[in-house]
Amino acid sequence: MDRSERMKWFMDARFGMFIHWGLYAIPARGEWVKSQEKMTDEEYDKYFREFNPVNYDPRLWAKVAKDAGMKYAVLTTKHHDGFCLFDSRYTDYKATNTPAGRDLVREYVDAFRAEGLAIGFYYSLLDWHHEDYPAYGDWNHPMRDNEKYKNKSHNFDRYVEYMHNQVEELMTNYGKIDIIWFDFSYGSLTGEAWRATELVKMIKKYQPHIIIDNRLGGNIKAAEPEIYAGDFANPEQILPPEGITNVKGEPIPWEANITLNNNWGYHADDNDYKSVRQVVHAIVECVSKGGNLLLNVGPNAKGEIPEPSLKILAEVGKWMNANGESIYGCGKADLPKPEWGRYTQKGNMLYAHIYERGIGPINLRGLNGKIAKARLLADGSELKLERPWNAQDYPDDAFIQFKSQKLPNEIDTVVALELL
Ligand code: GLC
Repeated sequence: MDRSERMKWFMDARFGMFIHWGLYAIPARGEWVKSQEKMTDEEYDKYFREFNPVNYDPRLWAKVAKDAGMKYAVLTTKHHDGFCLFDSRYTDYKATNTPAGRDLVREYVDAFRAEGLAIGFYYSLLDWHHEDYPAYGDWNHPMRDNEKYKNKSHNFDRYVEYMHNQVEELMTNYGKIDIIWFDFSYGSLTGEAWRATELVKMIKKYQPHIIIDNRLGGNIKAAEPEIYAGDFANPEQILPPEGITNVKGEPIPWEANITLNNNWGYHADDNDYKSVRQVVHAIVECVSKGGNLLLNVGPNAKGEIPEPSLKILAEVGKWMNANGESIYGCGKADLPKPEWGRYTQKGNMLYAHIYERGIGPINLRGLNGKIAKARLLADGSELKLERPWNAQDYPDDAFIQFKSQKLPNEIDTVVALELL
């Protein structure tokens, strides 16, 4: 299957849920806590012995995602700490051996699939638990400057073998998987250091339709990208100013991954949440540049998505429910960025996302005589395309008028413009 065929559903979906969840939900200081605080295995092990997410019900998570208008999800099956939420036969360091006592990935897959959402697996290439992963002198490992680890030998080939075996399990034990999301390459640990060509071939043998992110290494922007360079780029905590193109100037698929507060994994003290307005604008921003938004939640130790996240997602869902037509299957419009907001487009439907009411009529630059009709997307009501008397100096532009000084939706009022 070629890339554009495999990517079709993803490019239409536009909005997904990222879920960072693991032992680090207990210390509740973010998913890097073991590295940041240079914890030893023994220190971190208490979380393993304790992990018991009594309220884990992925059916609730799936419902939250669906109601927010998300079409897919990506769950951390294993993060950098090496702990596996799935039942792997290659390690004891897994959810089945904690008080949780079961394969939590299986339940996630079943629940999200039942809601009709596409299934993604995040898998960390780094592993701060495996004895054959580089520790002393590594850039990130919790024991990177612990002298006791200086002379400890490790066999990296054995780690890579382990990693391949686990990915094979993920690709064979859970039915159809839509996305595999590797994280991440650095320094010399990139590309063939992971035996990436072989890894991708194995993945595609089991899951021919799957799509893969671009963190195995390689250069997704190259004229001839490596087989492991990925199907989409995944800018982290940033929205690219002009979308993403390859060296030939052709747009390539991308997905911005963004946190709702400032952490991926649960952080009890981080209440710096984005507003509903920021989130809606981020979705629109991505679509207006041909990309997706993967928005993160970090469930707590009990398995609950934090309350503030639930509230934001519910509000985003209301907007999506009324205005999703301007998001799903839409992309970049062939027009410059308007002063009052953004455009998205699908075929002959152009969607004006009006963020700012401004003063007077809304100017649709260059569209005079090109619009068959204008409707408020949220309720289908007609908006008149009358030319105001004072607009004769702007013969190329079309205008819509709002009677009130308040926009019908202050977050983003979408006007559906049917082009001639
Ligand atoms: C980073 C972090 C990680 C997070 C990821 C999401 O690479 O290491 O904690 O999972 O970004 O993009």
